[in-house]
Amino acid sequence: MNQKNESIKTIAVLCSGGDSPGMNCAIRAVVRTALGEGLKVYGIRRGYAGLLEGSFVEMDASSVGNIIQHGGTILQTSRCPEFHEAETRKEAFHILKRKKIDGLIVIGGNGSYNGAYQLAQEHGLPVVGIPGTIDNDIEGTDYTVGFDTAVQTAVEAVDKIRDTAHSHARTFVVEVMGRKSPAIALHVGVCTGAENIVFPSEDVDYDQISADIRRGLKRGKSSSIIICAEGEEPGLSYKIQEKLKESSGIDAHVCILGHIQRGGNPSAIDRFLASRMGFVAVKAMLEGNTPVATAYVKGEVVSIPLENSLKKKDDYLPHFVELARSLSI
Ligand code: F6P
Repeated sequence: MNQKNESIKTIAVLCSGGDSPGMNCAIRAVVRTALGEGLKVYGIRRGYAGLLEGSFVEMDASSVGNIIQHGGTILQTSRCPEFHEAETRKEAFHILKRKKIDGLIVIGGNGSYNGAYQLAQEHGLPVVGIPGTIDNDIEGTDYTVGFDTAVQTAVEAVDKIRDTAHSHARTFVVEVMGRKSPAIALHVGVCTGAENIVFPSEDVDYDQISADIRRGLKRGKSSSIIICAEGEEPGLSYKIQEKLKESSGIDAHVCILGHIQRGGNPSAIDRFLASRMGFVAVKAMLEGNTPVATAYVKGEVVSIPLENSLKKKDDYLPHFVELARSLSI
């Protein structure tokens, strides 16, 4: 480790945006690593909204005991649109300063990172981001905390749907989460052998979906699963159902998995990732090259400039789509 930044004596940690399984593991790792470094640590409840309300709780080693296996976040979280305003961030900075907090660790997704980045740019506050979102859509990191668990939850659900779909020779449209990200749909589609994966961001080729299903039926398939990503506008899965009926007389059932994908005990992969990231986040804070974000890059957890993690990642879509299509003939 480089020279320790002696000006950091007290840090705070918060979760922001949609929760994700493994956030508790990250909180635990941050708190225990910081305590080990002789720092004082505050947890901030309910994300940036709680920061603005001054909702701080001092954390000790036992305050993060027995949480590693639990989904959700003991600190709770929120979406806080007001944090887009410079005036609000200024107020937040003053609240942190009054509490003598020298650095902030934010566990969340792109929106949360952007708030943290602006706080750092405008007020010079040392900040570190930990990617916590089921969507796996943060640039600069191969994986985000919670993605593995969410995919596993959805895969288990689709496997169950496949059982009944097979027994009744039915077609199902299963909608998974990811308002702006195709990652869950892609992974779940590949892992469940889905006949089709549909992304709202693309022009949906309903004729192609019908043709694929009919081809499958012809070669003796007894069920078809179409995985559809949630998208920004609700209703795509019902639209697919309607179009299949219209064009081919196929009676598809719709199943929307929804928020079950955000809950549940984190997988071992998410626990390990979050623990490593929490540890690296505190070390990076003390090294002083903030603002940074922790990232999983080719098997290693590293810290990268926060600037490189502000955008949404969308770069692996084509080859996964090709993979899914090639395997679902
Ligand atoms: O946290 C990410 C995510 O779960 C997306 O997959 C989903 O589209 C969105 O959040 C739902 O957010 P909310 O629970 O706030 O409606």
